Amino acid sequence: MSQASRRARRVLLRVAWVALLAGCEGYASALDPGGPQAARIKELTLFLFGVGAIVYLAVIGVLLYALRRAHVRNSVESGPAAERRMVRAVVGGVVVTFTIVMVTLFLNLETGRSLASFADPGALTITVTGQQWWWEVVYEDPNPSRRLTTANEIYVPVGTPIRLVTGSRDVIHSFWAPNLHGKIDLIPGYSGTTYFQADEEGVYRGRCAEFCGLQHARMDFRVIAVSPDRFAVWYEGQLRPARVPTTVEEVAGREIFLSRGCVLCHTIRGTPAGSRVGPDLTHLASRSRLAAGTLPNTRGHLAGWVLEAQGIKPGARMPPNQLAPDELRALLAYLESLR
Ligand code: CUA
Repeated sequence: MSQASRRARRVLLRVAWVALLAGCEGYASALDPGGPQAARIKELTLFLFGVGAIVYLAVIGVLLYALRRAHVRNSVESGPAAERRMVRAVVGGVVVTFTIVMVTLFLNLETGRSLASFADPGALTITVTGQQWWWEVVYEDPNPSRRLTTANEIYVPVGTPIRLVTGSRDVIHSFWAPNLHGKIDLIPGYSGTTYFQADEEGVYRGRCAEFCGLQHARMDFRVIAVSPDRFAVWYEGQLRPARVPTTVEEVAGREIFLSRGCVLCHTIRGTPAGSRVGPDLTHLASRSRLAAGTLPNTRGHLAGWVLEAQGIKPGARMPPNQLAPDELRALLAYLESLR
């Protein structure tokens, strides 16, 4: 075996292995529903796939039959009998096509109706606003002091209906967590409402499903379904203002945050920083990813993001920052304390 073919075989094996692992992860699949809405959509998907497969096989079968007949007879039939057969075939084809279209139309409408029936006045309302290229997440509450803003990671209690209110601050995005619901377009100037529910605890991966500019591919989110008790603990923790720095380094880090450009875009509740251009950082350290799923939330990645976000996610609003090594260490210590 030549070196080139050995290399090709190695690449193929690696691709197959990655594909296998991706399949094993089991999430971000519309065929693995984690709630009632996704289950309805899966039923429709499988039905449409089945109908499509049958129609495809029937068309191929008829085509092969016609080719064989043409080959055998090698002549064009004519006369009243052939004419009648032709008319019957055309009328039969039209009737079958019309029936299939009507049945799929009916089932589409029926699925839409059944999804709409999940509307629940007692649902927990979460407003998700898409923007280039991250998700602002607001938990609504009639009491303003219990209204909570976060980003990119959406905690929900299992078995609880969620009323999802959507909007966009710039261009069209699409909110898609395939295990929980179909795609929901986020349109500027228009507020949409839909309902979803997670029946099992777990992390449901989601992403923007509408091309929205340079970093469309790095606009992910996670829906994290936890027990109602854990959700209540998480919610109370997130409602609290930012942790007050305790070490000298953290205090210096806060000063750097408040005296540099950071304050122009970000909110840290409990400090004078209150802008909503970028994500709310009050509990940044409690999130598992940075920059809408782009990076794991570790010190190294956070440092890279703070210093040179444009090298990681070109076009994002986060500008580069010049910091001396001790300033960077202090800022990171402060940001990492925001649990
Ligand atoms: Cu937002 Cu694609």
